[in-house]
Amino acid sequence: MGFFPFYIFLEVSVVMVCASVTSTEQAKLSTPRNIYMNSSNMKHYLHWDPILNDEGTVKYSVRVQGEYERIQNTDWTYVDICQSITAHWCNVTEEIATNVQYELQVRAEVGSQKSDWAKLGQLFNRNASILTPPAVKFHSLGQALTLKIEYLGRNFVYFVFYWKKGAEEKVVSKKMNRGDTIFHLENVEGGYEYCAQVIAHAVPISRNSSKSTVVCATATGSGLSSLTIGLISLFGIIVGLVFLYAFLRYLVLVMRYSCCPQGKIPETLKEPFSSQKIIRHHFLEDCEKITSIEPSHQMTCEVTAQDYSDKTQFL
Ligand SMILES: *[C@@H]1O[C@H](CO)[C@@H](O)[C@H](O)[C@H]1NC(C)=O
Ligand SMILES: *[C@@H]1O[C@H](CO)[C@@H](O)[C@H](O)[C@H]1NC(C)=O
Ligand SMILES: *[C@@H]1O[C@H](CO)[C@@H](O)[C@H](O)[C@H]1NC(C)=O
Repeated sequence: MGFFPFYIFLEVSVVMVCASVTSTEQAKLSTPRNIYMNSSNMKHYLHWDPILNDEGTVKYSVRVQGEYERIQNTDWTYVDICQSITAHWCNVTEEIATNVQYELQVRAEVGSQKSDWAKLGQLFNRNASILTPPAVKFHSLGQALTLKIEYLGRNFVYFVFYWKKGAEEKVVSKKMNRGDTIFHLENVEGGYEYCAQVIAHAVPISRNSSKSTVVCATATGSGLSSLTIGLISLFGIIVGLVFLYAFLRYLVLVMRYSCCPQGKIPETLKEPFSSQKIIRHHFLEDCEKITSIEPSHQMTCEVTAQDYSDKTQFL
């Protein structure tokens, strides 16, 4: 009988102790501290200090509110990829979609316990994103020079500046298309060194990064392109020679049919009443010439001479 009240007392005190532990624990789950935004090149991250807790793994959830919703005191957007996460940062790039002031909050969770929402010290506007110049590399293939620019996302366009080394006063500037990261330098001369610099322009907030470091490269005069040029030249020369040969052949044929036959056809056959004396002299001269140059043509000459003698008889 004496044990019974003691047992009750023990049970009650255990319950009390448990209750007090639970209540102190709930009060102890503190809100995340040192909340700040890290935003560069239009990628936005919310950070906070991790909370140490013996009871279990601490998880975090993040929510965001745009300017309009904040003024209306309505909905919060619970960031999908940042619900009950163990990391102590959250990528809120997708949620920060316009150039307005955003409120961001984070809370801690252990099991079913949840802390209060802790808020960012000041509202965030993405126009405050830090813009760092892109990494730029030269890539040369033969005489052509190409710039490879770090991809910073669809929000960016690049301004490229380039010049021939030693002619810095003649800087060529070009605005690239949105999303493009490869730039071909125009009119580069082989053997010369070219330098370039790039600015990244964030379209949604109309702001420029500072200029990238200067990169330089020499356009080589040799290599693939000059070999190609050589082959093309050779082909051109061959085609030219073929055409020249064809033209000369044509010319020779035209000359042969337009001049030479006229000299060989006896004029007497065409014009029987022309002066015989002139024809006679003409034939004699022709014969003498042919005989003296080519003895094998003697036959022709004799025939012609025969012709001539026939004609003289006729006189
Ligand atoms: C953050 O989100 C943006 C948009 O979805 C994405 O482009 C970027 O790569 C993400 N950053 C990291 C570190 O995952
Ligand atoms: C960003 O926009 C806010 C207005 O929403 C303006 O007060 C602030 O000066 C802007 N900051 C920059 C860096 O453009
Ligand atoms: C960004 O740089 C380009 C090229 O120098 C310039 O034309 C443009 O006005 C600049 N924009 C801003 C907002 O500074």
